[in-house]
Amino acid sequence: MTGATTQRVGTEQLRSRIAAELARARARTALLTEAVDEADLMRQHSPLMSPLVWDLAHVGNQEELWLVRDVGGREPVRRDIDDLYDAFKQPRRDRPTLPLLPPQEARTYLLTVRDKVLDLLDRVAFTDRPLVADGFAFGMIVQHEQQHDETMLATHQLRAGPAVLHAPPPPEPRARVDAEVLVPAGEFTMGTDTDLWALDNERPAHRVHLPAYVIDATPVTNGRYREFVADGGYDDPRWWSPAGWRHRREAGLSAPLHWRRDGDGWACRRFGRWAPVRDDEPVVHVCFHEAQAYAAWAGRRLPTEAEWEKAARWDPATGRSRRYPWGDDDPTAEHANLGQRHLWPAPVGAYPAGASPLGVHQLIGDVWEWTSSTFRGHPGFTAFPYREYSEVFFGDEHRVLRGGSFGTDRAACRGTFRNWDFPIRRQIFSGFRCARDARPEESQP
Ligand code: AVJ
Ligand code: FE
Repeated sequence: MTGATTQRVGTEQLRSRIAAELARARARTALLTEAVDEADLMRQHSPLMSPLVWDLAHVGNQEELWLVRDVGGREPVRRDIDDLYDAFKQPRRDRPTLPLLPPQEARTYLLTVRDKVLDLLDRVAFTDRPLVADGFAFGMIVQHEQQHDETMLATHQLRAGPAVLHAPPPPEPRARVDAEVLVPAGEFTMGTDTDLWALDNERPAHRVHLPAYVIDATPVTNGRYREFVADGGYDDPRWWSPAGWRHRREAGLSAPLHWRRDGDGWACRRFGRWAPVRDDEPVVHVCFHEAQAYAAWAGRRLPTEAEWEKAARWDPATGRSRRYPWGDDDPTAEHANLGQRHLWPAPVGAYPAGASPLGVHQLIGDVWEWTSSTFRGHPGFTAFPYREYSEVFFGDEHRVLRGGSFGTDRAACRGTFRNWDFPIRRQIFSGFRCARDARPEESQP
């Protein structure tokens, strides 16, 4: 099991599940920070990212703040470094000039904090106090570390120099997939009240009615995206929103990030290695504006967040919303390309076991999918346990992404999980799929 699901379990089972999830996150953090030397850990590889050693100590500092001090009520380990690792006090561009803990000191700090956490995990009573009920604070910290691991993976992708990360390629296609799927009109339950480690922005569950719509059965592939590029899509303001066109001009966009021309075709750089762009893989490293322009060129649009979630969770047989497209069980390697098991998206059709009942594939894993929705609280939202996780980001500045990428751990991914970013960002593992309104003759039962 990934973490706490909808099923309440005994205290001892919860303790061992938390310990396993903490250890799994830490092993991944170690892999990402031991792959490069000390100078590379301290360096800023892109102004968009922190030095890896900032993420490393920040992970330990959040664990100290929430688990050692708040849940455990213990003395601070290093109160003196709180400000250095406060993401709101230190903008990313300034982080390399801060007096950061050097790598060895940061590792020692993380070990000290983790020792205290494992000690208090043995004694904590999972009372009704919301922060500790069902181990929530531990689950939040596991997800936080895994989220920063994905951020560190994105930093590795921006890093110059030879490859240091290794993984087998994703599986080959095993199924032919339809182009698109009709989702009938009707209500469904969006969000959750029952997933024990769901974060505040995924709550509460609420009913949403959607008219009939059609959604792509797979993410948009490199092959399709290449046609948009070849058709002059980047040079035609008709396809772009005014803000998108302005950004496309100012930033000089002409293809996804990490692509370059290669003879008649394209190559892309993945963690220090160049490879031919493969037509049947989902396109990755596009910003919201590029996704939106492609959709307009294709005569379609991006799905709303609700449309994405209904496609991912709604079970036509029961009318229930499930945790994942395939049901309520946690993801395995058969269901989805998650957890950095592979270092790029899998070709479409590679995960038939992960498809939804209506036949929508690869909603979970591979690439984060841009939606047309701005980031808002669900109706009845309450910030918990801190406003700075979600609430301060609500508004029109960010767009929501869904589904997780090959770099997202299963602990930080589910049908209700919400990610968000600025519409110009593309250093994240972002792609998209398209949707459209159903035509009247299609939506008749
Ligand atoms: C949810 C991925 C947008 O990385 O900015 C990490 C997660 N919040 N530390 C981010 C997060 C605080 C967040 N995202
Ligand atoms: Fe953080």
